[in-house]
Amino acid sequence: MIIAVCILLVVAGGALALWADRARRVQQEADAATGGVGARAIPIMLANGCAGCHTITGVPGAVGHVGPRLDASLSDRIYVGGVLANNPENMIRWIRSARDVNPHTAMPSTGITEQQARDIAAYLYALR
Ligand code: HEC
Repeated sequence: MIIAVCILLVVAGGALALWADRARRVQQEADAATGGVGARAIPIMLANGCAGCHTITGVPGAVGHVGPRLDASLSDRIYVGGVLANNPENMIRWIRSARDVNPHTAMPSTGITEQQARDIAAYLYALR
């Protein structure tokens, strides 16, 4: 019985370590692709109103329904804001200045810095 519990704990611990390792690797890849640091993104999103308009995976209190959900499906979408091809540079451009891209969109130009937008894009592209 004790041996069975020990084996179970080892297997569970191993699975957890693998999961954590995978999450770290996914974030590193997203950071590299965007030139951002995803780990810095949550306070930036909370301070700039993103959470009021979007439901964002992993962001406390981000339950807005004005814009689309920002979750794991974002990486798979073909367009950003329905107008730009979905790639890191366009994502960063949209996050900074959506209205310059599409004057009719309900999303305001946020006016955040390029580095802040890169950090947010890194976070969003790593959502799984
Ligand atoms: C006033 C509400 C509002 C705020 C504030 C806002 N957004 Fe948006 N956002 C929207 C709306 C509405 C859309 C859909 C726009 C469209 O398709 O024209 C959108 C679209 C997006 C998209 C594209 C999603 C897709 O699937 O095409 C991203 C990414 C995004 N917002 C990120 C952000 C981030 C990051 C912030 C904060 C820096 C932010 N938004 C702030 C309303 C908002």
